[in-house]
Amino acid sequence: MRIRSLFLKIFIWFWLGMIVANVALFLSVAATRPERSNRPWRDLSMVGSSAQKSAETYDREGQAALANYLDQFEESNGISSILFNDQGAELAGRVVPNGWQELAGRAAKTGITQFNVSTTALVVAQQVATPQNHHYVFVSRIARMPLSVSLRTQALRLLAVLLTGGLFCYGLASYLTTPIRKLRGTTHEFADGNLGARAAGRLVKRRDEIGQLGSDFNTMAERLQSMVAAQHRLLGDISHELRSPLARMSVALELARKRAESNAKSALDRIEHEAETLNEMIGQLLKLTRLESGTDGLKRTEVDLAQLVREVADDADFEARSRNRSVHVVNCDECSTQGTEELLRSAIENVVRNAVRYTAEGTEVEVTLRLKNGNENSAVISVRDHGQGVPEEAMDKIFHPFYRTEDARDRESGGSGLGLAIASRAVRLHGGRVQAVNAATGGLEVTISLPAERA
Ligand SMILES: Nc1ncnc2c1ncn2[C@@H]1O[C@H](COP(=O)(O)OP(=O)(O)O)[C@@H](O)[C@H]1O
Ligand SMILES: [Mg+2]
Repeated sequence: MRIRSLFLKIFIWFWLGMIVANVALFLSVAATRPERSNRPWRDLSMVGSSAQKSAETYDREGQAALANYLDQFEESNGISSILFNDQGAELAGRVVPNGWQELAGRAAKTGITQFNVSTTALVVAQQVATPQNHHYVFVSRIARMPLSVSLRTQALRLLAVLLTGGLFCYGLASYLTTPIRKLRGTTHEFADGNLGARAAGRLVKRRDEIGQLGSDFNTMAERLQSMVAAQHRLLGDISHELRSPLARMSVALELARKRAESNAKSALDRIEHEAETLNEMIGQLLKLTRLESGTDGLKRTEVDLAQLVREVADDADFEARSRNRSVHVVNCDECSTQGTEELLRSAIENVVRNAVRYTAEGTEVEVTLRLKNGNENSAVISVRDHGQGVPEEAMDKIFHPFYRTEDARDRESGGSGLGLAIASRAVRLHGGRVQAVNAATGGLEVTISLPAERA
């Protein structure tokens, strides 16, 4: 599995590192604690010799001496013991712990050393014979190093360390990745066309590399924004300035018509046609620059999208019929949006006209309007034709001003390549977007999505 999120990478690697380090520490501590592993054996051999000694002490010096000896033995080694005779009677005048009598009985009967192992102690009962040939059973309790208990507490400690470590790693990972995620959001916004998007807040106040990255981004965005603004201003100014000579030209054209011979008519018609095209282009350019600057305070009203789509489709169908093509509204959910009707109409019209222009002869352009329910409702207008489509590498560029595919440039008909640029700016101003894909079975499918409500 490949981890794609930086957050998870940092988190998992740091935490893994912590786990490995702690487990290694835990294991090495467990492995290098000598008393724990040796002590039971040492104790056992000691019990063997003291069993013999206590039996002999009892034989020689009696109960008091035995009690004394056992006390000393317990004091110096932490092993409490009791001596029984072969009848199972306790000999030092001590309280017999639970189960010891029975264990001693078994040892006496079988002559084999008996063990009783519990989690806390090892109780050993062994038979001893003195030189006087008396038989005794020596029972002693060797406290086990609380190995398993210790293991459990150790494991608990380990768990605690890992959990706090995990928490710490989580904090670290989010400390490192949150600003990057935020910056990424800003970059996306910028790439989506909001040239005013800037990294802000704590991100740029940081003095580390991430903070520097944030302010570098801001500097870059600043420069790009002013460059783009200058370009738009230039475009706007030029189009504006071109209008007056064009108007004078039209006046001159009328004069020329009056004075010219009749054989100049076709040339003059041509000049008039080109002047009209030029005028239209300039009009579109001005519209585009106004949309780009976005300052044109949109008058927002409720726009009935379903009706708008039907009207545009009807008009386009009327034109298409004369060229043996048609436009068909496949589906039309009733919905409305807030915005400027004129702008939305021109955007939809642009897309539908393109489809009619590029669809193959005898085919139908399918228009659908669907209301999608999501976080916010959105209306998706899809216009699908049956033409050549657009080469994949040009798919984004068709929304750029003046871009036309090779194919379209060769054509006599058609506009200037401003239509989709204007449409996408207009839709974006309404909080929506325009996208284009080649349909699987050929033809281009252009979708316009807009925030909308059910009508
Ligand atoms: N439905 C379509 N099918 C194929 N190509 C298209 C379609 N719509 C747009 N295009 C391509 O995108 C370019 C840009 O479209 P547009 O901005 O409307 O300019 P224009 O229509 O003035 O040529 C067109 O020149 C054409 O190459
Ligand atoms: Mg067009």
